[in-house]
Amino acid sequence: MRRPLIAGNWKMNTKLEEAENLVRAMLAELDSIDGAEKVLCPPFISLAILKELTKTTSVKLGAQNMHFEDRGAYTGEISPLMLTDLCDFVILGHSERRQYFAETDEIINKKVKKALGSGLKPILCIGESLEDNESGKAEQIIARQVKAGLAEVSPTSQLVIAYEPVWAIGTGRAATGKQANTTINLIRSIMANLWNRETAKAVRILYGGSVTSSNIAEFIAEPEIDGALVGGASLKASEFVSIVSQTASLKSPR
Ligand code: PGA
Repeated sequence: MRRPLIAGNWKMNTKLEEAENLVRAMLAELDSIDGAEKVLCPPFISLAILKELTKTTSVKLGAQNMHFEDRGAYTGEISPLMLTDLCDFVILGHSERRQYFAETDEIINKKVKKALGSGLKPILCIGESLEDNESGKAEQIIARQVKAGLAEVSPTSQLVIAYEPVWAIGTGRAATGKQANTTINLIRSIMANLWNRETAKAVRILYGGSVTSSNIAEFIAEPEIDGALVGGASLKASEFVSIVSQTASLKSPR
């Protein structure tokens, strides 16, 4: 029932030419893999060229952020109106946006509502910090992020959630498959209470944080995990292709 999804978050990496080379190095192989949705999220400046390169393929694009207004005096920002021409998905509320750019649950909620209203599929990121985790507050933080992020959002399976424990991002210290599955199960039950069981079951929930070709199978084997949001390993063509192809072959549609 839920189609597996692997999204590559390139973060603030790749100049134009590097982005083009990276896509060219994996496009044919990615395109040939059925059984998983494949999404590349390059820096804004590369979206147009990647759109051109991927237009006849099954590879989809996403942005890494957006503003919640369509236009106006917001120097340096990119609007949903600009993105709908270029991509299908948008990552929202990534922990690096929360941490370094002071994005609050309220701002992220505005962005989620705006993205859905504009026809973009949000990949809403949530996850507890190391401190929250060690002080036993992880569940409380996650519940707050889900409820606040989805406040006044009508039930929809267009939404994707990425559970990314902050302590696992870029650290090489991934959660275990079991840990991630337990938390994702919790997220689904919070959504079932907030929305309804049926929609909560239809929403794809990804794991993110130090995912590589060596550990993806452990996550994909878990029933509640529908794919991954991949940072560092998405910048290596062979790694990313391997993550996608393992996902497609291990995860039969439910
Ligand atoms: P990582 O990043 O795979 O490099 O840990 C994941 C993310 O931040 O989305």
